[in-house]
Amino acid sequence: MVLFSSLTPVFVAVLCAVVVFIHKSFQKKDRDSKTGSKSTAESRPWVDEDLKDDTEINSKDEGDWADSEEDVPHVPYAPERYPADVQLQRSREFHTLMNNRRSVRFISPEPVPREVIDNVIRTAGTSPSGAHTEPWTFVVVADIEMKHRIREIVEEEEEINYRQRMGDKWVSDLRKMRTSWVKEYLDIAPYLILIFKKTYGMHASGKKKTHYYNEISVSIACGILLAALQNVGLVTVTSTPLNCGPPLRLLLRRPANEKLLMLLPVGYPAKDAVVPNLTRKSLDDIMVFV
Ligand SMILES: *[C@@H]1O[C@H](CO)[C@@H](O)[C@H](O)[C@H]1NC(C)=O
Repeated sequence: MVLFSSLTPVFVAVLCAVVVFIHKSFQKKDRDSKTGSKSTAESRPWVDEDLKDDTEINSKDEGDWADSEEDVPHVPYAPERYPADVQLQRSREFHTLMNNRRSVRFISPEPVPREVIDNVIRTAGTSPSGAHTEPWTFVVVADIEMKHRIREIVEEEEEINYRQRMGDKWVSDLRKMRTSWVKEYLDIAPYLILIFKKTYGMHASGKKKTHYYNEISVSIACGILLAALQNVGLVTVTSTPLNCGPPLRLLLRRPANEKLLMLLPVGYPAKDAVVPNLTRKSLDDIMVFV
């Protein structure tokens, strides 16, 4: 007991020292992480906003999940009902049309009527989206100088990708597809369509509005866009330029809540266009019927 009480002041002093030490080191860590993120934000202003896209994981305002649909009155819906034979024929014809779609890198500079492009984009805008947020922006670039600046950004990044980021296997797989980091079609195609996903929007109140499933919503819109292009005899090649999103977003003056998902050069196929002689998987390989 005597021993213990004589040790108590020492024990308390040691405990205090430990507490102060822990406290100080926490403060330091906090400071480090703050200055750390600040300095990266200064040197690359877009990194935080563009790479940290966790809207779907960390969103807190769960209240507006179904807002838009619940607030809107419901009306009868009766789309056309086809007789069985017509239905079958339409399904075949649509498959034939879509089966003819190919990714084409040889695009003609021939002009394409602007109104056709408007309608194709309108069609893409009919896609379903989480809570009807319609989280897409289609930037259509026809301006020659702007197309060239886009090409410069894409080629610069692509060359780095090919040389450094991708493995040898990936590069040799792509060689079969005759791609390289030279993207002439970005200058030649009459239009470039850059599809941005809006990761969040704004309520009228100024509060952030979460766009649930924005990536899958915009991916579906891209699919419908490809079908709409095929329907009017235009070609494209889907590209998702690695690391080009942030500089292209800044070039096109899109806000920070928009991330580049896809870049499509669009036009008629060049007269001498070629595509790899690919075959598609058979129905048995892609469908499981239960
Ligand atoms: C493309 O490949 C298929 C076999 O996969 C072959 O039957 C066809 O002749 C080829 N087409 C051309 C134009 O070479």
